[in-house]
Amino acid sequence: MKNKWIAGVIIGTFLVFIGLLGLFLRPGEFPVNRDDGNEDVVDTDTDRKLPVPALLEDKNPNDGISEFEISVQEGETEFISGLKTPTLGYNGSYLGPVIRVSRGDEVRMHIKNELSDETSVHWHGLEVEGTDDGGPHQVIAENGVWEPVFEISQPAATLWFHPHVIGTTAIQVYYGLAGLLIVEDENSKSLNLPDEYGVNDIPLIIQDRSFSEDGSFLYYDNMMDGAYGEHIMVNGAITPYLDVDQVKMRFRVVNGANASNFDLRLSDRSEFQQIASDGGLLESPVERDSLFITPGERAEIIVDFSKYEDGDVLELESDGERVMSFRVGEEAEDTTEIPLELAEIEKMDQDLVTGFKSIELDGMGRMVTLNGRQFDMDRIDDDVAEGELEIWEITTNRSMMMGSLGHPFHIHGTQFQVLSRNGEEPYQNEMGWKDTIFVNAGETVRIIVRFRFKGVFMYHCHILEHEEAGMMGQLEVY
Ligand code: C2O
Ligand code: CU
Ligand code: CU
Repeated sequence: MKNKWIAGVIIGTFLVFIGLLGLFLRPGEFPVNRDDGNEDVVDTDTDRKLPVPALLEDKNPNDGISEFEISVQEGETEFISGLKTPTLGYNGSYLGPVIRVSRGDEVRMHIKNELSDETSVHWHGLEVEGTDDGGPHQVIAENGVWEPVFEISQPAATLWFHPHVIGTTAIQVYYGLAGLLIVEDENSKSLNLPDEYGVNDIPLIIQDRSFSEDGSFLYYDNMMDGAYGEHIMVNGAITPYLDVDQVKMRFRVVNGANASNFDLRLSDRSEFQQIASDGGLLESPVERDSLFITPGERAEIIVDFSKYEDGDVLELESDGERVMSFRVGEEAEDTTEIPLELAEIEKMDQDLVTGFKSIELDGMGRMVTLNGRQFDMDRIDDDVAEGELEIWEITTNRSMMMGSLGHPFHIHGTQFQVLSRNGEEPYQNEMGWKDTIFVNAGETVRIIVRFRFKGVFMYHCHILEHEEAGMMGQLEVY
C-alpha cells in the first residue's frame, strides 16, 4: 500500500516535471544535452596562440569616405586539432574582421549573405537611422545584398556587429557571427594611448562554447539563463596565449557570449585601468582588479606588463577559470601613456527630461517577458520624439527560483548614461557612455537616454536566448 503511494508521488512529480520542461523547451530544436556523455574532446593543455582578427580594408580611396565589403559565410574551423567544426563567419570561417572608422566618415557597407539562411548585420552601439541599424527589420535574404550608408557621428568607441533575425540570432552568433567596429576620433587619436592595432591594441572577443565528440558545436539552451559553453574562447581560440613585451597593452574586451557573464581578473590580482565602456572613453581611467562584463558589453582596459620579467606567465581568469594567458617577453620601449583626462562627457541634464519609461524584465528560460509581454514583430511597444530626453527605469524581479543571474539590458541606436543603481551612484566604470547595462535580480537601474535618429529600434535583454524568447520590445523614434 505504502509502496503504491510512493510510486504515485514519484510518477506524479515526474509528470509535473515533464510538463514544466515542455514550457521551457521547444521540442526538437537543438541538441538538449550539454553533457552529451562523451569524453571532452578539448585538450586543455594544448598551446593555442591568440588569433588577432584582421583589419578590414577600406575600398574607397577618398578621405572621409569608407567602403567595406563583407560576406557572411558558412565554413569550417579547426578549434581542436584534427577536428573540423562547422561554423559561420564574416569574410572567413569564424568571427569577422575589425572594421575601423573615424568620426565624421561616411561609411558605405556592401554586405552579401552567402548563408543558406536569412541573416542581418546589426551595428551594436552605433547611432544611425533605424533603417541602417541591421535589426530584425533589415533581414538579408539568402544570396541577398544589404548596402546601408551612414555617417559616423559619435565618439571613439569599441562597437560590434552581429546578426539579429528573429529566431536565429542566438544560433548564428553561437556559430561564429560577430565582429568588431572600432570608432576613432580626434580626441582618441591625440591621447597617446596604446593604439597600434595588433601590436599594443588588441581585441579580446570572449565567448564560451561546447563541443561534441566529432568537433561540432554543441548548442545547449539552458532552461534558465540561455546557452552556456564548457570552454572559454578568445577571438575564436580555446583558452589561448598571447606573447607580450614589458609594455602597456590595451585590450578591447567584448563579451560576445550568448549568455555567460565573465568576471575577469589577472591571476596575480594586479590592478589594471579601465579606460572605456560600451560607448567610448571614460572621463578618466578607473583602476580596478576585476572586470565584470555581461553579454553585449564592452570595456577597454590597459594592463601594464612593465613590472613583470621575461618568462613570467600571467593568466586572465573568470571565476577561477582560465580565459587566456599572457607570456611576458622582453623589455621594450613604451612611449604610450594613460592620461588622467581621457574624454569630456557632457552629463545629460535631468531638468530637461520630458518623458519616463519603465521597463520590467521578468521570468526565465522561455517564460521571459518585458513589461509583462513577449516580443511581437508587428507591435510597436513605445515611442519617443527624436532628440527628447527621457529617463528609463529598468527593474528585474527577484526570481523565485535560484540561478537567475540578472539581465543585460540593451538599447539599439543610442548611447545612454546611467543615473543610479538601486538609488545609489552607479559604479565608477558605468559613468561613461553605455548601450548595455546589467540589471541584477531585484535591482533597479535608472538611465537617461536620447535618440538622435529616427526609426524603429529594439531594446532587449542581451542574453540571446532571452531575446529570442521574447524579452524584447520595439521603440519608434519619430
Ligand atoms: Cu547586440 Cu539587439 O543587439
Ligand atoms: Cu544592439
Ligand atoms: Cu535576460
